[in-house]
Amino acid sequence: MKAAVLHEVNKPLVIEDVSVPNPGPREVLIRTKVAGLCHSDLHFMEGLYPHPLPAVLGHESAGVVEKVGSDVTYVKPGDHVVTCLSVFCGTCDNCTTGRTVLCTDTTVKMLPGQSNRLSWGRKEKLNQFLNLSSFAEQMLVHENAIVKIRKDMPLELAALIGCGVITGYGAVVNTAKVTAGESVVVIGCGGVGMAAINGAEIAGAGRIIAVDTNPAKLQLATKLGATDIVDPRNGDVVQQVRDLTGGGVHHSFEVLGRKETAEQAFAMLAPGGTATIVGMIPFGQKIELHGFDFLRERKIQGSSMGSNHFRVDMPRLIEFYMRGKLHLEDWISAKLKLSEINEGFANMKAGKTVRSVIMFDA
Ligand code: APR
Ligand code: ZN
Ligand code: ZN
Repeated sequence: MKAAVLHEVNKPLVIEDVSVPNPGPREVLIRTKVAGLCHSDLHFMEGLYPHPLPAVLGHESAGVVEKVGSDVTYVKPGDHVVTCLSVFCGTCDNCTTGRTVLCTDTTVKMLPGQSNRLSWGRKEKLNQFLNLSSFAEQMLVHENAIVKIRKDMPLELAALIGCGVITGYGAVVNTAKVTAGESVVVIGCGGVGMAAINGAEIAGAGRIIAVDTNPAKLQLATKLGATDIVDPRNGDVVQQVRDLTGGGVHHSFEVLGRKETAEQAFAMLAPGGTATIVGMIPFGQKIELHGFDFLRERKIQGSSMGSNHFRVDMPRLIEFYMRGKLHLEDWISAKLKLSEINEGFANMKAGKTVRSVIMFDA
């Protein structure tokens, strides 16, 4: 099968012939139908986060089950599934207390470089990425890395839920637990930020302020539920938000992964407000906050993959889509072949796309 391999950081991905072994007892072999391009993949391609290379990237996908291991009862061949990198064991302390995204069982949620699920006829080990490696025609994954979905759900829309949508929506609904009427700011309206905005709308937030430097993104944000828009090129973002809200917001979400915007997210809070950092700030970089701001009970927290319980959350998101509340069609800017993947990342870098998806049958 074909897969896009990252050999070296800051080099294009190369399409290579790769194979996967038969599923082990708790593994599932999936025919990948759709894979979304996420900014986190780009962070690794640019070396902002370390990962053993060569590796097959990709972690936002949907497909059809081809084969299951001897102990798998959850799915059968032919089932439609969405993948999630938040693979869980179900028995560690974090899983048992409901925080499955923080699973600590490394035999299930394997560390980078640990799994042997990809081979390519060379001596050099080919690494699986985030227990998934979606930029490949087939994926071999643990059964607890997938959720079954209804077959009438279009797979290209389902794939988006696998990372971008659950990450943005979950940050609002699960991590920050935004309640009806509260004010929300989302800084960075890419695929993940748009999901945070749509999530805030579903949660019944009051003011929903979208911040982005791209006017086209701000326009789409308005369609998804933003009540106000802020363009950083029109002046200080914190001041613009303070002016709009009369002193600060209840919830801010940083969905970009930069020091400057993370600091803005905290600085724009009303007393008692909470900043949630969703973006991946480059490894090793520190952010600076005014200590005084903590006196009025402002909080800052991280959110990983939207603090999801994906086997519950993802089918619910699909129901929201079916009822017209989650506007997944608006996310897809381009449909690509696997061979066009480098163009897709170039467009992401240029800020042109919300989401590009690879259609494996195209
Ligand atoms: N202020 C606000 N928005 C900005 C700024 C800025 N200074 N600079 C760029 N942007 C906007 C871009 O115009 C774009 O719309 O931020 C958005 C980033 O979107 P994508 O590149 O599509 O990123 P996305 O896939 O949504 O991921 C965002 O979340 O999960 C993490 O790793 C991911 O750190 C990344 C973040
Ligand atoms: Zn992602
Ligand atoms: Zn666990």
